[in-house]
Amino acid sequence: MVRQVIGQPRQAVETLPAYRPGKAASQAEEEHGITGAIKLASNETPWGPVPAVTAILAQSVSTINRYADHRAAALRERLASWVGLAPEQVTVGCGSVGILQQLFLSYVDPGDEVVYPWRSFEVYPVFTQLASGVEVATPLVDHIADLDAVAAAVASKTKLIVLANPNNPTGTARPISEIGNLLQQVPNDVIVVLDEAYHEFMNPALGDPVTDLLPQFANLVILRTFSKAQGLAALRIGYAMAAPELIETLDKTLPPFAVNGLAQIAAMASIDAHDQVMERVELIKAERSRVVAALRDRGYVVPEPEANFVWLPLGQTTDEVHLELERAGVVTRPFPGEGIRVTVSTPDENDRFLAAL
Ligand SMILES: Cc1ncc(COP(=O)(O)O)c(C=O)c1O
Repeated sequence: MVRQVIGQPRQAVETLPAYRPGKAASQAEEEHGITGAIKLASNETPWGPVPAVTAILAQSVSTINRYADHRAAALRERLASWVGLAPEQVTVGCGSVGILQQLFLSYVDPGDEVVYPWRSFEVYPVFTQLASGVEVATPLVDHIADLDAVAAAVASKTKLIVLANPNNPTGTARPISEIGNLLQQVPNDVIVVLDEAYHEFMNPALGDPVTDLLPQFANLVILRTFSKAQGLAALRIGYAMAAPELIETLDKTLPPFAVNGLAQIAAMASIDAHDQVMERVELIKAERSRVVAALRDRGYVVPEPEANFVWLPLGQTTDEVHLELERAGVVTRPFPGEGIRVTVSTPDENDRFLAAL
């Protein structure tokens, strides 16, 4: 087929590699001619949402002929009282990545610098390039963000700092007090984004930025999501917590009705069922300890995970191990030449991974 050229995309878009999601189990089955593959590649929860959420979703499907509340006022109220903030200090978006993209749209002009430790979540360089910003990547030390290097990388053109804590794909986290030390060193016109997609899986002793940092730092934005612990990944709903001025700016860039009605309803029901959600989180954390111990017993280096996945820094053997695991029906996420990221799942699925490895 002759490909017709229609229009000229912006150079930033034309040179952008497409986002590469984790491979579906069905795709691996097709590629390798196998059956019964399992997906441990996207840090999802293995179970559907808790029963109360499933029930209210079933009852609410018939309402989707109507646009939902663009401002998600009821959910914001519920969220705010849940996290102990004022409704003006929270907003919701189309997944936490949706809000992250709004932050880039709001704060990054062409040529502005965006600082983040690297390796980290793949969308950070994508959003930087889309905004025609300039990436300033600081190295990890022992698979964990080096916050001194981040502070040292801040310059007059820096607009955003993005920190995934816990980090994806290494799973490591810095104590919140250390992030506070970084904030002390950063000029207050630089926005610091703390991406806490895996917050619920962290050791609470590491601190909570909502209580420990937000009251002091008006340039801090905390992102969290209903995709991971709450099991609502496909509904696309995340939230941000920050000073009211920052939330107001963010709200200007939300595409109309980007937070769908079912997502709003499910998020509220999920907050109501938070104890049940956390029971599931505890199951995953217990499995995480078991998997890490088994791996370390076998001599693997495993950085201390604070999220629902483990990082195996396999270096040059990454591609081979990833491929063999996939042939054995265990789909993990490879980072060629660096390592594989493996989602912690049910005991059965974790055993499949350990056996295949
Ligand atoms: C660090 C990090 N932030 C954000 C997200 C995406 O979350 P959401 O589904 O809320 O867009 C992910 C998902 O993999 C992630 O690893």
